[in-house]
Amino acid sequence: MGPGVDAPDPVTVGLVRRALSVREGLSLDTDAVRLFDGTGDGLDRLVIERFGPWYRASGAPEDAVHLPAIRAALPADAPLFWRFGNEQLGAAPAGDAALADARREVTEGGLRFGVELLPNRNTGLFLDARAARRWVRANCEGRRVLNLFSFTGAFGVAAAAGGARSTVNVDPVPRVQQRAEENYRRNGLAVDGRTFWREDALEALKRARKAGAAFDAIVLDPPPAPTGGKRGARVDVTQDLARLVRASAAVLAPGGWLLVLVAHRQLDADAPAAEAGLAHVLWRGTSDADFVPAEGSPGLRAVAYTAG
Ligand SMILES: C[S@@+](CC[C@H](N)C(=O)[O-])C[C@H]1O[C@@H](n2cnc3c(N)ncnc32)[C@H](O)[C@@H]1O
Repeated sequence: MGPGVDAPDPVTVGLVRRALSVREGLSLDTDAVRLFDGTGDGLDRLVIERFGPWYRASGAPEDAVHLPAIRAALPADAPLFWRFGNEQLGAAPAGDAALADARREVTEGGLRFGVELLPNRNTGLFLDARAARRWVRANCEGRRVLNLFSFTGAFGVAAAAGGARSTVNVDPVPRVQQRAEENYRRNGLAVDGRTFWREDALEALKRARKAGAAFDAIVLDPPPAPTGGKRGARVDVTQDLARLVRASAAVLAPGGWLLVLVAHRQLDADAPAAEAGLAHVLWRGTSDADFVPAEGSPGLRAVAYTAG
């Protein structure tokens, strides 16, 4: 029998229902919410998120076994996309029609963001960074903001909406820069020839320093796993975090802040920031309460540093 046809496992149905009812009590000012957070909610790797009226379940290939229980626990006829590993992708009830175009739009704090619920692992909006986006929006009035590892530009959008004087988004991948530009446009935010830099973060920092450029706010959100290849220099956060913090500090204007996001459980930017002259912590944040860190795992941590 294929996914969705087997009888639902009652224990899993109970876990999912419990997780859904916990989220009902949260007010998060968004229609993009994590509803089931893997180990923290009782099943390793299984993630369920809601994007507007659409639900999305994801996990490893072996987690496809949970599909009948997920469907039983969700509201009847809830439109659901699923992705278990790279191979098991699906949608119900619309099936192939929904699969043909899984692009949707969500809102967060009144801002609009595009998401792609399939086929990739990442939808284009990291819900665990929502609290950090809120902080950025509230703390960048009049600032020149540099958004490193910008992906679909969510931090840039938050900064621009918060009154930043200018925003620059650095990412070497043309496709994500195009999605970032779409996010600016769907919020009516101005873009110009300097809003999107298609390049490697360290190269951009080096070039900015040589040109004497300065920023009043920098977001540093490197990928948790090593990346690289043709499109950008290899970045491995476990090796490169200190170098990235140092190079960021070198283009930070007096009175500026550097926000570092780290998901890797053994990493911490406090020491590299202090060594780079940014010893004062302005803000420490984590994810909103729709995320449930597993025991022994701190989850995403965001820390804003200044020179004090
Ligand atoms: C974890 S995401 C960043 C999330 C993003 N800050 C957000 O708020 O959605 C990783 C991004 O880093 C980009 N990236 C990978 N290597 C890079 C490099 N060497 N320089 C700059 N960006 C890079 C990827 O293209 C990807 O878009």
